[in-house]
Amino acid sequence: MKGVQLLPEQASTFASQVDLLFWFLVAVTVFFTVLIGALVVYFALRYRRGSTASRAGAKETDLRLEISWSLIPLTIGLIVFVWAAKLYASAYGPPPENALEIFVIGKQWMWHVQHPNGIRENNELHIPAGRPVKLTMISQDVIHSFFVPAFRIKRDVLPGKYNVVWFTATKPGKYHLFCAEYCGTQHSRMIGWVYVLEPADYEKWLASGGEARPYATASGAGTMAGVSTASLKEAGEKLYTQLRCNACHGATDGQRGPTHYGLFGKKVKMRDGTVVTADEEYIRESILRPLAKVVDGYEPIMPSYEGLLNEERVLQLVAYIKSLESSTKVAEVKP
Ligand code: CUA
Repeated sequence: MKGVQLLPEQASTFASQVDLLFWFLVAVTVFFTVLIGALVVYFALRYRRGSTASRAGAKETDLRLEISWSLIPLTIGLIVFVWAAKLYASAYGPPPENALEIFVIGKQWMWHVQHPNGIRENNELHIPAGRPVKLTMISQDVIHSFFVPAFRIKRDVLPGKYNVVWFTATKPGKYHLFCAEYCGTQHSRMIGWVYVLEPADYEKWLASGGEARPYATASGAGTMAGVSTASLKEAGEKLYTQLRCNACHGATDGQRGPTHYGLFGKKVKMRDGTVVTADEEYIRESILRPLAKVVDGYEPIMPSYEGLLNEERVLQLVAYIKSLESSTKVAEVKP
């Protein structure tokens, strides 16, 4: 027993920064509460009815006083604003280039995790310490919220849109994962664990296909969703062929559809003249609602895959299309 714990453990690079801001706000609040409270009590006693304290020289106004009680709070307010905005921008801005990319699907009522190498987990997330981790998240049904208090991160997980959150875990250990958005009767049970492993342990875990679980306990909330032998990209490639995407999307821009090679990250011009960056969101939308954005020079003839593919499979396709470099060549497929 260590007595009362005021805040969750600090286990990411954001944690200490968020806590510092939090304690600054607490300190400012306590300081002014005590100052103003003490003055109220002091003046109430000193100038109570019937007291003999001198009331001579009382003024209606004092400009210096008015300026200082305007400027001091303004300054403190602006300090908090700039500080918090910077912190927010770093935590919710784009992740570093070298971030480890992992996909998360929220569904009533569990967290499903897909690692690029094919490992899948339910209600568990294994990550290495000391390396930025980028989570691309989507919901299969209602709004959920991915919340790891020890990392001081919380991000809504929305249906129909990828949301990204990133963090760098600092301390190996086991940390609570919560859903922080009421999402139905079993919302409170939509919980899990994040296992932060030493980099060497993480490599072992990856190599064992998720079997080696140094911190997991028998009573842990998670279950392995199974390991497919194929990586996310390979599963996507298989699906791509099965769905015959390559019948219209070849190695180069074809008559019926533009190529997917070298597409990811490119700026694409649409029929209506707008320019869109081909990111995960754009690729997902084009699979499910191909008519929402039609590439310049093409007819809106692609069928929609909405309702035919679950988010897991969409992620596989996105991972595959992302991996297609423009220099890679494939055999043209005749439709
Ligand atoms: Cu999912 Cu609450």
